[in-house]
Amino acid sequence: MKKLLFINLIVLFSTFLIAQEITDESVEHSPENSKCFYCHGNPTYSFYNEILERNVTNRMNPYLIIDSALYYYQNHSSFECIDCHSYGFKTFPHDNELQMEAMPGCFDCHEGDDEVYNFAKIDQQFQESVHSTKHSQDFTCWMCHNPHTYKINARNNQNLLETIVYDNNICLSCHADINKYQLISSDKNPNIIEKHDWLPNQISHFAHVRCIECHTDTSNNILVAHKVQTKDKAVRKCVECHSQNSILMSSLYKFQAIEKRNKYGFFNASTLDDSYIIGANRNYYLNVLSGLIFGFVLLLIFIHAVLRIFIK
Ligand code: HEC
Ligand code: HEC
Ligand code: HEC
Ligand code: HEC
Ligand code: HEC
Ligand code: HEC
Ligand code: HEC
Repeated sequence: MKKLLFINLIVLFSTFLIAQEITDESVEHSPENSKCFYCHGNPTYSFYNEILERNVTNRMNPYLIIDSALYYYQNHSSFECIDCHSYGFKTFPHDNELQMEAMPGCFDCHEGDDEVYNFAKIDQQFQESVHSTKHSQDFTCWMCHNPHTYKINARNNQNLLETIVYDNNICLSCHADINKYQLISSDKNPNIIEKHDWLPNQISHFAHVRCIECHTDTSNNILVAHKVQTKDKAVRKCVECHSQNSILMSSLYKFQAIEKRNKYGFFNASTLDDSYIIGANRNYYLNVLSGLIFGFVLLLIFIHAVLRIFIK
Protein backbone atom coordinates (compact mmCIF):
# COMPACT_ATOMS: atom_id res chain seq x y z
CA MET A 1 0.00 0.00 0.00
CA LYS A 2 2.78 2.39 1.04
CA LYS A 3 4.77 1.44 -2.02
CA LEU A 4 1.78 2.04 -4.27
CA LEU A 5 1.28 5.49 -2.80
CA PHE A 6 4.95 6.22 -3.30
CA ILE A 7 4.85 5.22 -6.95
CA ASN A 8 1.65 7.22 -7.44
CA LEU A 9 3.37 10.28 -6.05
CA ILE A 10 6.27 9.97 -8.43
CA VAL A 11 3.96 9.38 -11.39
CA LEU A 12 1.97 12.43 -10.34
CA PHE A 13 5.12 14.52 -10.28
CA SER A 14 6.42 13.28 -13.59
CA THR A 15 3.13 13.86 -15.40
CA PHE A 16 3.18 17.42 -14.11
CA LEU A 17 6.68 17.80 -15.44
CA ILE A 18 5.80 16.44 -18.86
CA ALA A 19 2.77 18.71 -18.93
CA GLN A 20 5.10 21.71 -18.75
CA GLU A 21 5.46 23.33 -22.12
CA ILE A 22 8.87 23.00 -23.66
CA THR A 23 9.67 25.35 -26.49
CA ASP A 24 13.15 25.80 -27.81
CA GLU A 25 12.64 28.15 -30.72
CA SER A 26 14.56 31.08 -29.27
CA VAL A 27 17.92 29.28 -29.08
CA GLU A 28 20.03 28.59 -32.10
CA HIS A 29 21.38 25.08 -31.84
CA SER A 30 25.15 24.76 -32.04
CA PRO A 31 26.42 22.36 -34.73
CA GLU A 32 29.22 21.31 -32.34
CA ASN A 33 26.57 20.14 -29.86
CA SER A 34 24.74 18.17 -32.54
CA LYS A 35 27.82 15.99 -32.89
CA CYS A 36 27.66 15.16 -29.18
CA PHE A 37 23.88 14.68 -29.29
CA TYR A 38 24.32 12.26 -32.19
CA CYS A 39 25.51 9.81 -29.55
CA HIS A 40 24.44 11.33 -26.22
CA GLY A 41 20.89 12.15 -27.33
CA ASN A 42 19.87 8.63 -28.32
CA PRO A 43 19.53 5.14 -26.78
CA THR A 44 21.91 3.76 -29.42
CA TYR A 45 24.94 5.16 -31.28
CA SER A 46 27.06 4.05 -34.22
CA PHE A 47 30.73 4.51 -34.93
CA TYR A 48 33.37 3.16 -37.28
CA ASN A 49 35.28 0.42 -35.49
CA GLU A 50 38.81 0.60 -36.85
CA ILE A 51 39.78 -2.86 -35.66
CA LEU A 52 36.74 -4.58 -37.19
CA GLU A 53 36.87 -2.16 -40.13
CA ARG A 54 33.12 -1.67 -40.19
CA ASN A 55 30.31 0.39 -38.62
CA VAL A 56 29.16 -0.86 -35.22
CA THR A 57 26.00 0.08 -33.30
CA ASN A 58 26.02 0.01 -29.50
CA ARG A 59 23.65 0.84 -26.68
CA MET A 60 24.26 4.12 -24.85
CA ASN A 61 24.47 3.98 -21.07
CA PRO A 62 21.14 5.58 -19.98
CA TYR A 63 22.91 7.78 -17.43
CA LEU A 64 24.91 9.35 -20.26
CA ILE A 65 21.86 10.26 -22.36
CA ILE A 66 20.96 13.96 -22.37
CA ASP A 67 17.52 15.20 -23.43
CA SER A 68 18.19 17.81 -26.12
CA ALA A 69 14.76 19.46 -25.71
CA LEU A 70 15.40 20.04 -22.01
CA TYR A 71 18.99 21.11 -22.75
CA TYR A 72 17.85 23.90 -25.06
CA TYR A 73 15.21 25.01 -22.55
CA GLN A 74 17.51 25.67 -19.57
CA ASN A 75 19.56 28.54 -18.13
CA HIS A 76 22.76 27.57 -19.92
CA SER A 77 21.12 26.69 -23.24
CA SER A 78 23.44 28.99 -25.19
CA PHE A 79 26.45 26.88 -24.09
CA GLU A 80 28.42 24.44 -26.15
CA CYS A 81 29.16 21.16 -24.40
CA ILE A 82 32.86 21.92 -24.62
CA ASP A 83 32.42 25.19 -22.71
CA CYS A 84 32.30 22.98 -19.63
CA HIS A 85 33.69 19.68 -20.94
CA SER A 86 37.16 19.15 -22.30
CA TYR A 87 37.95 19.62 -26.00
CA GLY A 88 39.23 16.06 -25.80
CA PHE A 89 35.64 14.77 -25.99
CA LYS A 90 35.50 15.80 -29.64
CA THR A 91 37.26 12.57 -30.51
CA PHE A 92 35.84 9.09 -30.03
CA PRO A 93 36.63 6.74 -28.37
CA HIS A 94 37.08 9.32 -25.61
CA ASP A 95 40.43 9.31 -23.86
CA ASN A 96 40.06 7.39 -20.56
CA GLU A 97 41.90 10.06 -18.61
CA LEU A 98 39.12 12.52 -19.36
CA GLN A 99 37.01 10.68 -16.77
CA MET A 100 39.29 12.02 -14.04
CA GLU A 101 38.90 15.61 -15.15
CA ALA A 102 37.70 18.21 -12.65
CA MET A 103 34.45 19.91 -13.71
CA PRO A 104 33.87 23.64 -13.29
CA GLY A 105 31.70 24.74 -10.35
CA CYS A 106 29.14 27.59 -10.33
CA PHE A 107 31.72 29.95 -8.83
CA ASP A 108 34.21 29.48 -11.67
CA CYS A 109 31.79 31.63 -13.68
CA HIS A 110 29.39 33.29 -11.20
CA GLU A 111 31.90 34.60 -8.65
CA GLY A 112 30.65 38.02 -7.50
CA ASP A 113 27.29 37.53 -9.22
CA ASP A 114 25.50 38.94 -6.18
CA GLU A 115 23.34 41.78 -7.38
CA VAL A 116 20.33 39.72 -8.43
CA TYR A 117 20.89 36.20 -7.18
CA ASN A 118 23.30 36.76 -4.29
CA PHE A 119 25.43 33.71 -5.02
CA ALA A 120 27.70 34.50 -2.05
CA LYS A 121 24.85 34.23 0.45
CA ILE A 122 23.52 31.08 -1.27
CA ASP A 123 26.96 29.51 -0.96
CA GLN A 124 27.16 30.41 2.72
CA GLN A 125 23.76 28.79 3.37
CA PHE A 126 24.70 25.76 1.31
CA GLN A 127 27.91 25.30 3.33
CA GLU A 128 25.83 25.31 6.54
CA SER A 129 23.24 22.86 5.18
CA VAL A 130 22.98 19.30 6.45
CA HIS A 131 24.05 18.01 3.01
CA SER A 132 27.34 19.95 3.08
CA THR A 133 28.22 19.48 6.71
CA LYS A 134 27.81 15.72 6.41
CA HIS A 135 29.23 15.26 2.89
CA SER A 136 31.21 18.40 2.06
CA GLN A 137 33.29 17.01 -0.82
CA ASP A 138 30.78 14.88 -2.68
CA PHE A 139 27.77 17.14 -2.41
CA THR A 140 28.13 19.92 -5.00
CA CYS A 141 25.70 22.52 -6.33
CA TRP A 142 25.31 20.29 -9.45
CA MET A 143 23.65 17.61 -7.33
CA CYS A 144 20.52 19.76 -7.20
CA HIS A 145 21.17 21.91 -10.25
CA ASN A 146 21.42 19.39 -13.07
CA PRO A 147 24.07 20.82 -15.43
CA HIS A 148 22.03 19.95 -18.52
CA THR A 149 18.47 20.80 -17.39
CA TYR A 150 18.43 23.34 -14.54
CA LYS A 151 15.93 26.07 -15.40
CA ILE A 152 15.05 28.99 -13.17
CA ASN A 153 11.43 28.79 -11.94
CA ALA A 154 10.62 30.39 -8.59
CA ARG A 155 11.78 33.79 -9.86
CA ASN A 156 9.91 33.99 -13.15
CA ASN A 157 7.41 31.16 -13.61
CA GLN A 158 3.92 32.65 -13.26
CA ASN A 159 2.48 29.21 -12.55
CA LEU A 160 3.23 28.60 -8.89
CA LEU A 161 2.07 24.98 -8.94
CA GLU A 162 4.64 24.24 -11.67
CA THR A 163 7.37 25.81 -9.56
CA ILE A 164 6.36 23.64 -6.61
CA VAL A 165 6.60 20.48 -8.72
CA TYR A 166 9.90 21.59 -10.24
CA ASP A 167 11.50 22.37 -6.89
CA ASN A 168 10.18 19.22 -5.18
CA ASN A 169 11.48 17.09 -8.03
CA ILE A 170 14.96 18.41 -7.29
CA CYS A 171 14.78 16.92 -3.79
CA LEU A 172 12.95 13.78 -4.92
CA SER A 173 15.61 13.13 -7.57
CA CYS A 174 17.58 11.70 -4.63
CA HIS A 175 15.10 11.19 -1.85
CA ALA A 176 12.90 9.03 -4.08
CA ASP A 177 15.74 7.47 -6.10
CA ILE A 178 17.99 5.00 -4.34
CA ASN A 179 20.56 5.04 -7.16
CA LYS A 180 21.27 8.75 -6.99
CA TYR A 181 21.04 8.77 -3.18
CA GLN A 182 23.74 6.13 -3.11
CA LEU A 183 26.15 8.49 -4.87
CA ILE A 184 26.27 10.40 -1.61
CA SER A 185 25.54 7.92 1.13
CA SER A 186 25.71 4.17 1.64
CA ASP A 187 22.93 4.33 4.25
CA LYS A 188 19.39 3.19 3.54
CA ASN A 189 17.33 5.86 1.80
CA PRO A 190 14.49 6.75 4.20
CA ASN A 191 11.02 6.36 2.66
CA ILE A 192 9.66 9.87 2.25
CA ILE A 193 5.98 8.83 2.35
CA GLU A 194 6.39 6.89 5.61
CA LYS A 195 8.46 9.61 7.23
CA HIS A 196 5.67 12.12 6.59
CA ASP A 197 2.83 9.87 7.79
CA TRP A 198 1.92 12.45 10.42
CA LEU A 199 0.94 14.94 7.70
CA PRO A 200 -2.70 14.49 6.58
CA ASN A 201 -3.53 14.65 2.84
CA GLN A 202 0.10 14.15 1.97
CA ILE A 203 -0.38 14.18 -1.80
CA SER A 204 -2.26 17.46 -1.62
CA HIS A 205 0.31 19.01 0.70
CA PHE A 206 3.25 17.93 -1.47
CA ALA A 207 1.52 19.45 -4.50
CA HIS A 208 0.89 22.78 -2.74
CA VAL A 209 4.02 23.37 -0.67
CA ARG A 210 7.68 22.70 -1.32
CA CYS A 211 9.99 20.49 0.73
CA ILE A 212 12.12 23.56 1.45
CA GLU A 213 9.20 25.34 3.16
CA CYS A 214 9.51 22.92 6.07
CA HIS A 215 13.18 22.01 5.80
CA THR A 216 15.01 25.32 5.44
CA ASP A 217 15.52 28.51 7.36
CA THR A 218 14.09 31.46 5.43
CA SER A 219 16.39 34.36 4.68
CA ASN A 220 15.79 37.99 3.79
CA ASN A 221 18.58 38.35 1.27
CA ILE A 222 17.81 35.49 -1.09
CA LEU A 223 14.66 34.28 -2.80
CA VAL A 224 15.25 30.56 -2.35
CA ALA A 225 16.54 29.46 1.05
CA HIS A 226 19.44 26.97 0.76
CA LYS A 227 20.10 25.99 4.35
CA VAL A 228 18.50 22.55 4.56
CA GLN A 229 18.42 21.69 8.25
CA THR A 230 18.47 18.46 10.23
CA LYS A 231 15.11 16.73 10.60
CA ASP A 232 14.58 17.76 14.22
CA LYS A 233 14.41 21.40 13.05
CA ALA A 234 11.75 20.75 10.38
CA VAL A 235 8.37 22.49 10.57
CA ARG A 236 5.82 20.16 12.11
CA LYS A 237 3.23 22.49 13.66
CA CYS A 238 0.18 22.99 11.46
CA VAL A 239 -0.27 26.60 12.58
CA GLU A 240 3.08 27.61 11.12
CA CYS A 241 1.24 27.59 7.79
CA HIS A 242 -2.41 27.45 8.76
CA SER A 243 -2.53 30.87 10.40
CA GLN A 244 -2.65 34.51 9.51
CA ASN A 245 1.10 35.00 9.81
CA SER A 246 1.82 31.85 7.80
CA ILE A 247 5.51 31.11 7.17
CA LEU A 248 4.52 30.61 3.54
CA MET A 249 4.31 34.37 3.11
CA SER A 250 8.08 34.70 3.55
CA SER A 251 8.99 31.66 1.45
CA LEU A 252 6.68 30.24 -1.21
CA TYR A 253 4.66 33.43 -1.65
CA LYS A 254 7.55 35.83 -1.14
CA PHE A 255 7.26 37.44 -4.59
CA GLN A 256 3.47 37.55 -4.74
CA ALA A 257 3.16 38.73 -1.14
CA ILE A 258 4.85 42.00 -1.98
CA GLU A 259 2.73 42.56 -5.08
CA LYS A 260 -0.75 41.68 -3.90
CA ARG A 261 -1.06 42.61 -0.27
CA ASN A 262 -4.61 42.93 1.06
CA LYS A 263 -6.65 42.19 -2.04
CA TYR A 264 -10.33 42.85 -1.18
CA GLY A 265 -9.45 42.94 2.51
CA PHE A 266 -8.26 39.33 2.61
CA PHE A 267 -5.19 38.54 4.69
CA ASN A 268 -2.63 36.69 2.55
CA ALA A 269 -4.72 37.25 -0.58
CA SER A 270 -1.85 36.13 -2.80
CA THR A 271 -2.30 32.53 -1.67
CA LEU A 272 -5.92 32.37 -2.83
CA ASP A 273 -5.10 31.95 -6.52
CA ASP A 274 -3.36 28.63 -6.01
CA SER A 275 -4.53 27.18 -2.71
CA TYR A 276 -7.09 27.43 0.01
CA ILE A 277 -5.03 27.26 3.18
CA ILE A 278 -7.36 26.73 6.12
CA GLY A 279 -6.73 29.42 8.74
CA ALA A 280 -4.51 31.63 6.59
CA ASN A 281 -7.11 33.53 4.59
CA ARG A 282 -9.28 35.44 7.00
CA ASN A 283 -11.04 38.54 5.69
CA TYR A 284 -10.71 41.89 7.43
CA TYR A 285 -14.30 43.02 6.80
CA LEU A 286 -15.76 39.65 7.78
CA ASN A 287 -13.68 39.80 10.96
CA VAL A 288 -15.10 43.23 11.81
CA LEU A 289 -18.63 42.07 11.00
CA SER A 290 -18.36 38.96 13.16
CA GLY A 291 -16.88 41.12 15.95
CA LEU A 292 -19.88 43.43 15.71
CA ILE A 293 -22.36 40.56 15.78
CA PHE A 294 -20.59 39.03 18.78
CA GLY A 295 -20.67 42.38 20.60
CA PHE A 296 -24.35 42.82 19.77
CA VAL A 297 -25.21 39.37 21.15
CA LEU A 298 -23.28 40.15 24.36
CA LEU A 299 -25.22 43.39 24.67
CA LEU A 300 -28.55 41.58 24.23
CA ILE A 301 -27.64 39.04 26.93
CA PHE A 302 -26.60 41.88 29.24
CA ILE A 303 -29.87 43.79 28.69
CA HIS A 304 -31.82 40.57 29.14
CA ALA A 305 -30.04 39.84 32.45
CA VAL A 306 -30.53 43.41 33.72
CA LEU A 307 -34.25 43.32 32.83
CA ARG A 308 -34.70 39.99 34.64
CA ILE A 309 -33.06 41.35 37.81
CA PHE A 310 -35.30 44.44 37.73
CA ILE A 311 -38.47 42.49 37.03
CA LYS A 312 -37.76 40.12 39.97
C1 HEC B 1 30.45 8.31 -31.34
C2 HEC B 1 29.66 8.53 -30.15
C3 HEC B 1 30.02 9.67 -29.20
C4 HEC B 1 30.22 10.99 -29.52
C5 HEC B 1 30.21 11.66 -30.90
C6 HEC B 1 30.46 11.65 -28.26
N1 HEC B 1 30.42 10.75 -27.23
FE1 HEC B 1 30.73 11.14 -25.28
N2 HEC B 1 30.58 9.16 -24.82
C7 HEC B 1 30.27 8.18 -25.72
C8 HEC B 1 30.27 6.90 -25.03
C9 HEC B 1 29.99 5.55 -25.65
C10 HEC B 1 30.60 7.15 -23.69
C11 HEC B 1 30.78 6.14 -22.55
C12 HEC B 1 32.11 5.42 -22.67
C13 HEC B 1 33.26 6.32 -22.47
O1 HEC B 1 33.34 6.97 -21.42
O2 HEC B 1 34.08 6.42 -23.37
C14 HEC B 1 30.79 8.60 -23.60
C15 HEC B 1 31.11 9.25 -22.44
C16 HEC B 1 31.10 10.65 -22.30
C17 HEC B 1 31.24 11.36 -21.05
C18 HEC B 1 31.33 10.72 -19.67
C19 HEC B 1 32.70 10.38 -19.24
C20 HEC B 1 32.60 9.76 -17.87
O3 HEC B 1 32.71 10.49 -16.91
O4 HEC B 1 32.37 8.55 -17.81
C21 HEC B 1 31.18 12.70 -21.32
C22 HEC B 1 31.29 13.84 -20.33
C23 HEC B 1 31.05 12.82 -22.75
N3 HEC B 1 31.00 11.57 -23.30
C24 HEC B 1 30.95 14.03 -23.40
C25 HEC B 1 30.89 14.15 -24.79
C26 HEC B 1 30.91 15.41 -25.48
C27 HEC B 1 31.00 16.78 -24.79
C28 HEC B 1 30.82 15.14 -26.80
C29 HEC B 1 30.84 16.13 -27.98
C30 HEC B 1 31.98 17.03 -28.02
C31 HEC B 1 30.74 13.70 -26.93
N4 HEC B 1 30.81 13.14 -25.68
C32 HEC B 1 30.67 13.02 -28.14
C33 HEC B 1 29.99 8.33 -27.05
C34 HEC B 1 30.14 9.52 -27.76
C1 HEC C 1 27.35 24.38 -17.70
C2 HEC C 1 28.34 23.34 -17.86
C3 HEC C 1 28.01 22.13 -18.70
C4 HEC C 1 27.57 22.09 -20.00
C5 HEC C 1 27.30 23.27 -20.92
C6 HEC C 1 27.47 20.68 -20.37
N1 HEC C 1 27.80 19.90 -19.30
FE1 HEC C 1 27.83 17.86 -19.27
N2 HEC C 1 28.32 17.90 -17.28
C7 HEC C 1 28.59 19.04 -16.56
C8 HEC C 1 28.92 18.65 -15.20
C9 HEC C 1 29.27 19.62 -14.07
C10 HEC C 1 28.84 17.24 -15.15
C11 HEC C 1 29.08 16.36 -13.93
C12 HEC C 1 27.79 16.19 -13.19
C13 HEC C 1 27.94 15.84 -11.78
O1 HEC C 1 29.06 15.81 -11.27
O2 HEC C 1 26.91 15.60 -11.14
C14 HEC C 1 28.47 16.81 -16.48
C15 HEC C 1 28.29 15.47 -16.82
C16 HEC C 1 28.10 15.02 -18.13
C17 HEC C 1 28.02 13.64 -18.54
C18 HEC C 1 28.15 12.44 -17.61
C19 HEC C 1 26.80 11.97 -17.18
C20 HEC C 1 26.19 12.82 -16.12
O3 HEC C 1 25.10 13.39 -16.37
O4 HEC C 1 26.76 12.94 -15.02
C21 HEC C 1 27.80 13.63 -19.90
C22 HEC C 1 27.65 12.41 -20.78
C23 HEC C 1 27.76 15.00 -20.33
N3 HEC C 1 27.93 15.83 -19.24
C24 HEC C 1 27.58 15.40 -21.63
C25 HEC C 1 27.33 16.71 -22.03
C26 HEC C 1 26.93 17.08 -23.38
C27 HEC C 1 26.75 16.13 -24.52
C28 HEC C 1 26.75 18.43 -23.37
C29 HEC C 1 26.28 19.33 -24.50
C30 HEC C 1 25.03 18.96 -25.13
C31 HEC C 1 27.09 18.91 -22.03
N4 HEC C 1 27.40 17.83 -21.24
C32 HEC C 1 27.06 20.24 -21.61
C33 HEC C 1 28.55 20.33 -17.00
C34 HEC C 1 28.15 20.74 -18.26
C1 HEC D 1 31.12 27.75 -17.52
C2 HEC D 1 30.56 28.90 -16.84
C3 HEC D 1 29.31 28.69 -15.99
C4 HEC D 1 29.10 27.73 -15.02
C5 HEC D 1 30.02 26.60 -14.58
C6 HEC D 1 27.80 28.03 -14.45
N1 HEC D 1 27.23 29.11 -15.07
FE1 HEC D 1 25.36 29.86 -14.75
N2 HEC D 1 25.58 31.14 -16.29
C7 HEC D 1 26.76 31.34 -17.00
C8 HEC D 1 26.53 32.36 -18.03
C9 HEC D 1 27.56 32.90 -19.02
C10 HEC D 1 25.15 32.74 -17.92
C11 HEC D 1 24.38 33.71 -18.82
C12 HEC D 1 23.78 32.83 -19.90
C13 HEC D 1 22.93 33.54 -20.89
O1 HEC D 1 22.44 34.64 -20.60
O2 HEC D 1 22.72 32.94 -21.97
C14 HEC D 1 24.61 31.97 -16.80
C15 HEC D 1 23.30 32.08 -16.35
C16 HEC D 1 22.86 31.55 -15.15
C17 HEC D 1 21.61 31.87 -14.50
C18 HEC D 1 20.62 32.92 -14.95
C19 HEC D 1 19.70 32.48 -16.03
C20 HEC D 1 18.78 33.61 -16.44
O3 HEC D 1 17.99 33.35 -17.34
O4 HEC D 1 18.84 34.71 -15.88
C21 HEC D 1 21.54 31.15 -13.35
C22 HEC D 1 20.45 31.16 -12.30
C23 HEC D 1 22.75 30.36 -13.28
N3 HEC D 1 23.52 30.60 -14.38
C24 HEC D 1 23.04 29.51 -12.24
C25 HEC D 1 24.15 28.68 -12.22
C26 HEC D 1 24.38 27.68 -11.20
C27 HEC D 1 23.49 27.44 -9.99
C28 HEC D 1 25.55 27.06 -11.52
C29 HEC D 1 26.21 25.89 -10.82
C30 HEC D 1 25.35 24.77 -10.44
C31 HEC D 1 26.06 27.67 -12.74
N4 HEC D 1 25.18 28.63 -13.13
C32 HEC D 1 27.23 27.30 -13.40
C33 HEC D 1 27.94 30.68 -16.80
C34 HEC D 1 28.13 29.56 -16.00
C1 HEC E 1 19.61 20.67 -1.88
C2 HEC E 1 19.39 21.19 -3.20
C3 HEC E 1 20.15 22.43 -3.65
C4 HEC E 1 21.51 22.64 -3.59
C5 HEC E 1 22.57 21.73 -3.03
C6 HEC E 1 21.74 23.92 -4.21
N1 HEC E 1 20.56 24.47 -4.64
FE1 HEC E 1 20.33 26.24 -5.59
N2 HEC E 1 18.31 25.97 -5.64
C7 HEC E 1 17.65 24.84 -5.20
C8 HEC E 1 16.24 24.98 -5.48
C9 HEC E 1 15.16 23.97 -5.14
C10 HEC E 1 16.07 26.23 -6.13
C11 HEC E 1 14.79 26.85 -6.69
C12 HEC E 1 14.77 26.61 -8.20
C13 HEC E 1 13.74 27.46 -8.89
O1 HEC E 1 12.54 27.21 -8.72
O2 HEC E 1 14.13 28.39 -9.61
C14 HEC E 1 17.40 26.83 -6.21
C15 HEC E 1 17.67 28.08 -6.77
C16 HEC E 1 18.94 28.61 -6.95
C17 HEC E 1 19.23 29.86 -7.60
C18 HEC E 1 18.20 30.84 -8.16
C19 HEC E 1 17.65 31.67 -7.02
C20 HEC E 1 16.84 32.86 -7.46
O3 HEC E 1 16.95 33.90 -6.78
O4 HEC E 1 16.08 32.77 -8.42
C21 HEC E 1 20.58 30.03 -7.60
C22 HEC E 1 21.36 31.20 -8.17
C23 HEC E 1 21.16 28.87 -6.95
N3 HEC E 1 20.13 28.02 -6.55
C24 HEC E 1 22.51 28.67 -6.76
C25 HEC E 1 23.05 27.60 -6.07
C26 HEC E 1 24.46 27.46 -5.76
C27 HEC E 1 25.55 28.44 -6.15
C28 HEC E 1 24.60 26.30 -5.06
C29 HEC E 1 25.86 25.72 -4.45
C30 HEC E 1 26.61 26.62 -3.57
C31 HEC E 1 23.28 25.71 -4.94
N4 HEC E 1 22.36 26.53 -5.55
C32 HEC E 1 23.02 24.50 -4.32
C33 HEC E 1 18.22 23.74 -4.58
C34 HEC E 1 19.56 23.58 -4.32
C1 HEC F 1 4.81 20.17 6.25
C2 HEC F 1 6.22 20.16 6.46
C3 HEC F 1 7.09 19.20 5.63
C4 HEC F 1 7.13 19.07 4.27
C5 HEC F 1 6.28 19.80 3.22
C6 HEC F 1 8.18 18.12 3.98
N1 HEC F 1 8.74 17.67 5.16
FE1 HEC F 1 10.24 16.32 5.30
N2 HEC F 1 10.00 16.27 7.33
C7 HEC F 1 9.18 17.13 8.06
C8 HEC F 1 9.30 16.79 9.48
C9 HEC F 1 8.59 17.48 10.63
C10 HEC F 1 10.24 15.71 9.56
C11 HEC F 1 10.71 14.99 10.81
C12 HEC F 1 9.94 13.71 10.94
C13 HEC F 1 10.42 12.87 12.08
O1 HEC F 1 11.32 13.27 12.82
O2 HEC F 1 9.88 11.78 12.20
C14 HEC F 1 10.66 15.42 8.18
C15 HEC F 1 11.59 14.46 7.85
C16 HEC F 1 12.23 14.38 6.61
C17 HEC F 1 13.42 13.60 6.31
C18 HEC F 1 14.22 12.79 7.29
C19 HEC F 1 13.77 11.36 7.27
C20 HEC F 1 14.55 10.55 8.29
O3 HEC F 1 13.94 10.18 9.30
O4 HEC F 1 15.74 10.33 8.07
C21 HEC F 1 13.70 13.79 4.98
C22 HEC F 1 14.85 13.19 4.20
C23 HEC F 1 12.68 14.67 4.45
N3 HEC F 1 11.80 15.01 5.46
C24 HEC F 1 12.63 15.10 3.14
C25 HEC F 1 11.55 15.79 2.59
C26 HEC F 1 11.32 15.98 1.17
C27 HEC F 1 12.24 15.48 0.08
C28 HEC F 1 10.17 16.71 1.05
C29 HEC F 1 9.47 17.16 -0.22
C30 HEC F 1 8.98 16.12 -1.11
C31 HEC F 1 9.68 16.99 2.40
N4 HEC F 1 10.53 16.40 3.30
C32 HEC F 1 8.55 17.74 2.70
C33 HEC F 1 8.37 18.14 7.54
C34 HEC F 1 8.10 18.32 6.19
C1 HEC G 1 22.17 14.34 -4.41
C2 HEC G 1 21.16 13.74 -3.54
C3 HEC G 1 20.28 14.64 -2.66
C4 HEC G 1 19.50 15.69 -3.04
C5 HEC G 1 19.30 16.27 -4.44
C6 HEC G 1 18.83 16.15 -1.84
N1 HEC G 1 19.22 15.40 -0.77
FE1 HEC G 1 18.60 15.59 1.15
N2 HEC G 1 19.90 14.13 1.74
C7 HEC G 1 20.69 13.38 0.89
C8 HEC G 1 21.46 12.42 1.67
C9 HEC G 1 22.46 11.40 1.12
C10 HEC G 1 21.09 12.63 3.02
C11 HEC G 1 21.60 11.87 4.26
C12 HEC G 1 22.63 12.65 4.93
C13 HEC G 1 23.22 11.81 6.05
O1 HEC G 1 22.62 11.75 7.12
O2 HEC G 1 24.26 11.20 5.82
C14 HEC G 1 20.11 13.69 3.03
C15 HEC G 1 19.48 14.18 4.15
C16 HEC G 1 18.41 15.05 4.16
C17 HEC G 1 17.61 15.40 5.32
C18 HEC G 1 17.70 14.74 6.69
C19 HEC G 1 18.65 15.37 7.59
C20 HEC G 1 18.68 14.58 8.91
O3 HEC G 1 18.43 15.18 9.92
O4 HEC G 1 18.93 13.36 8.87
C21 HEC G 1 16.68 16.31 4.92
C22 HEC G 1 15.62 16.98 5.79
C23 HEC G 1 16.90 16.54 3.50
N3 HEC G 1 17.96 15.76 3.07
C24 HEC G 1 16.15 17.39 2.74
C25 HEC G 1 16.39 17.66 1.39
C26 HEC G 1 15.70 18.68 0.63
C27 HEC G 1 14.61 19.59 1.19
C28 HEC G 1 16.21 18.63 -0.64
C29 HEC G 1 15.84 19.52 -1.81
C30 HEC G 1 15.95 20.96 -1.62
C31 HEC G 1 17.21 17.58 -0.68
N4 HEC G 1 17.30 17.02 0.57
C32 HEC G 1 17.94 17.22 -1.80
C33 HEC G 1 20.75 13.48 -0.48
C34 HEC G 1 20.10 14.46 -1.24
C1 HEC H 1 4.33 24.11 5.11
C2 HEC H 1 2.99 24.61 5.31
C3 HEC H 1 1.92 23.68 5.86
C4 HEC H 1 1.98 22.93 7.02
C5 HEC H 1 3.13 22.84 8.02
C6 HEC H 1 0.72 22.25 7.12
N1 HEC H 1 -0.08 22.57 6.04
FE1 HEC H 1 -1.98 21.88 5.68
N2 HEC H 1 -2.02 22.90 3.92
C7 HEC H 1 -1.04 23.74 3.46
C8 HEC H 1 -1.45 24.29 2.16
C9 HEC H 1 -0.64 25.25 1.28
C10 HEC H 1 -2.72 23.74 1.88
C11 HEC H 1 -3.60 24.05 0.67
C12 HEC H 1 -3.74 22.83 -0.20
C13 HEC H 1 -4.84 23.02 -1.22
O1 HEC H 1 -5.09 24.14 -1.69
O2 HEC H 1 -5.44 21.99 -1.55
C14 HEC H 1 -3.06 22.88 3.02
C15 HEC H 1 -4.24 22.14 3.11
C16 HEC H 1 -4.62 21.41 4.23
C17 HEC H 1 -5.87 20.71 4.37
C18 HEC H 1 -6.94 20.64 3.31
C19 HEC H 1 -6.54 19.51 2.40
C20 HEC H 1 -7.24 19.48 1.10
O3 HEC H 1 -6.99 18.54 0.36
O4 HEC H 1 -8.00 20.40 0.80
C21 HEC H 1 -5.88 20.12 5.60
C22 HEC H 1 -6.98 19.26 6.22
C23 HEC H 1 -4.61 20.45 6.24
N3 HEC H 1 -3.87 21.22 5.38
C24 HEC H 1 -4.24 20.04 7.52
C25 HEC H 1 -2.98 20.22 8.06
C26 HEC H 1 -2.57 19.68 9.34
C27 HEC H 1 -3.46 18.88 10.29
C28 HEC H 1 -1.26 20.05 9.51
C29 HEC H 1 -0.34 19.72 10.69
C30 HEC H 1 -0.14 18.32 10.99
C31 HEC H 1 -0.88 20.83 8.35
N4 HEC H 1 -1.94 20.89 7.48
C32 HEC H 1 0.37 21.40 8.17
C33 HEC H 1 0.17 24.04 4.09
C34 HEC H 1 0.62 23.46 5.26
